[in-house]
Amino acid sequence: MKIGLVGSGYVGLVAGACLAELGHEVTLVDTDRDKIAALQRSKCPIHERFLPELLQRHGNRRLAFTSDLKEAVRSSQVVFVAVGTPSKEDGCADVSYVESVTSGIASAIRDYKAIVVKCTVPVYTSHWIRRVLLLNGAPAPLFDVASNPEFLREGSAVSDFLYPDRIVLGVDNDHCARLLQQVYEPLVDGSYYSRLDAIPGPAAVQCPTRLICTSTKSAELIKHASNAFLAMKISFANSLANVCEAVEADVEQVCEGVGADSRIGYRFLHPGVGYGGSCLPKDLLAFRAVARENGCHFGLLDETIRVNEEQQGRFLRKIQRALWNLKGKNLAVLGLAFKNGTDDVRESPAISIIKALLREGCSITAYDPAAMVRATDLLPKHSVRFAADAYEALRGADACVVLTEWEDFGALDLGRMKELMRYPIVIDGRNMFSPDCMEAAGLNYYSVGRPDVMGAKRSSTLATESVSRTSNGAHPESHSTIGAAISRDGARPASGPTDERP
Ligand code: UGA
Repeated sequence: MKIGLVGSGYVGLVAGACLAELGHEVTLVDTDRDKIAALQRSKCPIHERFLPELLQRHGNRRLAFTSDLKEAVRSSQVVFVAVGTPSKEDGCADVSYVESVTSGIASAIRDYKAIVVKCTVPVYTSHWIRRVLLLNGAPAPLFDVASNPEFLREGSAVSDFLYPDRIVLGVDNDHCARLLQQVYEPLVDGSYYSRLDAIPGPAAVQCPTRLICTSTKSAELIKHASNAFLAMKISFANSLANVCEAVEADVEQVCEGVGADSRIGYRFLHPGVGYGGSCLPKDLLAFRAVARENGCHFGLLDETIRVNEEQQGRFLRKIQRALWNLKGKNLAVLGLAFKNGTDDVRESPAISIIKALLREGCSITAYDPAAMVRATDLLPKHSVRFAADAYEALRGADACVVLTEWEDFGALDLGRMKELMRYPIVIDGRNMFSPDCMEAAGLNYYSVGRPDVMGAKRSSTLATESVSRTSNGAHPESHSTIGAAISRDGARPASGPTDERP
């Protein structure tokens, strides 16, 4: 089938490459001519597993790149819209790119087109698109508007697209439903999975892929609700971790027990420094705005966002508890991306935490396997030294701070780590190591929701001593202003400190 896809961001680029992989002829449109030129040279603009292979395989063959929207629309039966929907000041999604693309599409419609919204949008967007198409002269019988939200995760986007848990089609008539089912047929009938050159996916493939046909409004809500639920699960795990810290229990053990209930499940129950990225933070705000605009009080969303914002502050206080004074400390920071498997640093907890540490007077040497180039744009100029690998970052450091869950970090040689650092202190925001192994390796180890271990106790210096707890379990420095709260761009808010421990 001939498919046009507008927007070559994460979702658009991955979807375009994967639709070509399924056998369709795809034209990817973007107004950014430099990006289009780079894609025409098969240059992959993001760090994403299997994407370079797909661009090599299909680029300039079944996958064409252009800045000519009208031509792409004219030559396609189905036109996907995957442009950005960033947050506005008030948290609402800014859907102005969707509107301007829609008017561009309208004037190119000469025969029937299915216009399909793939980007994450608030409920009623499909209705608005229909209106804009009509107002711009597109004849009603010549188009349908559908919603087909995407559930891919950065870092595993290609296999998420090709091996989805479900495909959601929000369609308001049968003709359009049938057309979209054809688009996904190789996944639904399983023929893609028997191809010898298929991109590898999870060991157990759910086949046929579950196809869920709904109204456009329900499809739009399914996307927002899914991201809200995932974020809520992470904030739940982080709140649980706080209780575990207070009573000196182990959150990993608690989550193992909780997640074993198949109604709950293990996934997205990992505590850490809070969720980041270009989706969950933005979509939570947008969904909350949708609820408010429609007169609904969805307090769970407020609480999910609040827990997430506080989580970084808690972690900063943990670093301070481990090091006493932050001023003048040399820290090795492992991880800059908002999660593993990607070079994306948008809304990365690592970036805000680094900014806060810099403000406290720390010097930072950072290492990330993929995100160092992108991180440079978000950090104050020359404020952070970048290392060629994790061991180089650790050399001479007063402590190591782990901020992204790259698997490689969990595989570091602990003996070498200890040898390289000035003080054997590791503060881990992603629970990458086993406390027992850290203790056995002679490291003082602070993680999230698990008791601290003092492997280096015997040879301790002032810096390696843990701060003793008061009788109510609170840490004496809990009145400190560090990490009182950090705003979304990492800047300390003007208001006074808040502390989660009364
Ligand atoms: C998220 C959703 O998972 C996708 O289903 C959705 O399609 C996508 O948003 C989107 O709307 O486009 P993504 O932002 O790529 O995907 O990343 P996630 O894997 O959801 O991770 C988000 C953040 O939560 C990361 O910072 C990660 O480190 C953190 N996280 C995740 C935790 O702290 N704990 C967990 O247990 C899981």
